[in-house]
Amino acid sequence: MDGALRYLETHRERFLTQLLAYLRIPSVSAQRDRHPDARRAAEFVRARLEEAGCAAGLFQGDGLPTVHGRCGEGAGRPTLLVYGHYDVQPPEPLELWTSPPFEPVVKEGEIRARGCADDKGPSLAMVFAAECWTKGAGGLPTNLRFIIEGEEESGGSVVQRYLEAHKETLAADALVIADTSGVAKGVPALVYGLRGILAAELLLTGPSRDLHSGGYGGTVANPATALGRLIGSLHDRRGTVAIEGFYGAVKPLEATERARLAKVPFVETAFLAETGSPSLFGEEGYTSTERETARPTCEINGLYGGYQGEGSKTIIPSRAGCKITCRLVPDQEPEAIGEALRLHMEKHLPPGVRMELRMGHGAPPVLTDPETRWAKLARGALEKAFGKPCALTRAGGSIPVVNLFQKLLGVQPLLIGTYAPGERAHSPNERYFVEDFYGAIRAGIHLFAGK
Ligand code: BES
Ligand code: MN
Ligand code: MN
Repeated sequence: MDGALRYLETHRERFLTQLLAYLRIPSVSAQRDRHPDARRAAEFVRARLEEAGCAAGLFQGDGLPTVHGRCGEGAGRPTLLVYGHYDVQPPEPLELWTSPPFEPVVKEGEIRARGCADDKGPSLAMVFAAECWTKGAGGLPTNLRFIIEGEEESGGSVVQRYLEAHKETLAADALVIADTSGVAKGVPALVYGLRGILAAELLLTGPSRDLHSGGYGGTVANPATALGRLIGSLHDRRGTVAIEGFYGAVKPLEATERARLAKVPFVETAFLAETGSPSLFGEEGYTSTERETARPTCEINGLYGGYQGEGSKTIIPSRAGCKITCRLVPDQEPEAIGEALRLHMEKHLPPGVRMELRMGHGAPPVLTDPETRWAKLARGALEKAFGKPCALTRAGGSIPVVNLFQKLLGVQPLLIGTYAPGERAHSPNERYFVEDFYGAIRAGIHLFAGK
């Protein structure tokens, strides 16, 4: 252990330099013209795994490759699977960045680049933690298997194919995932739940072309107006989702759970300053932490229809639509929620327009026990790495493949929240504190001790 921690101290600068090189690769999985770059990022990860002494390779499927690695072979000792992703969200809108998204800048201890926190920094930290053991302490005390995929942000299925094809060789005692935040700067968390997701797109069509709104207005339905009514029907005034049956499978929050989440620090003024919203809003009867992590939602992610250019244009648009994602909690299932959404839309569809509802990707929610032996080990590792008590929390985001890991391999996910919240993941000016990078490497070192 000491050797591994010392190795980190003597290689701090190089680890940071390599992270910055990784951040220069624009591995945006959602954009096809970035796929050659994404493949370079996969090669980069493979090279780091090999440097760490792992046997590594790329699993090609129909999409972006999943990088896999194995090291520390030995019988009679624990095996840990480590999951992360090398792909990043699109950086747009570019004009809102204070420096170009793929030209990382380090200023006052803060890295700024797309993907620095989500998830290149934390996942590379796990690879470096392995290197600290293999090169600094003469070898690993546990067996490690790495799976770093390239389609997490865009709903791909290559990693799923990989898991299905290799499940016999992936048996492990726990699954380590460094892809969530802690609860405050320097305060790590064991994240024992993730929300699931269901994505859908709604398209409404009316006239076969945009019509003169004077010549035709009042005679046929306007798809944009119909869209507004449909979107408006999804919630009541108090923020509760109004889709029939939406809450049917939701497990009520138990008192112990509520008590646990009540301990997560939440400062309203700081939260409002960070988000820029004028006030809090959400489902009545729940705290902000509960609304964000343990209650389901239905969000409009974008809407379109009609004239968007300068000045006014007097038309009845021929079409209008929107993109929707619902965040799910136990025991909601994406398919059932998709069905409920479809029924709701059909029931509330205003007259005079046609509707098409396309279902997108889905993933079930995840909830694990933060009191198992491995969960306690992870909490201990985080405390040693950050020198602060480890918080327990759930996260509102989704990591689609985690549920499949549980189902296929029966492993417990240990989601280690290693970076400060407010990292602006998916937003312009994504940031990651250099200290959190080193904290994550230390957490990996302690966790890989396996006891
Ligand atoms: N790292 C996030 C997931 C996350 C976000 C966990 C916030 C905890 C808190 C991950 O990279 C992500 O963004 N997932 C997507 C999945 C979607 C594209 C299917 C998400 O949650 O939107
Ligand atoms: Mn992520
Ligand atoms: Mn993400």
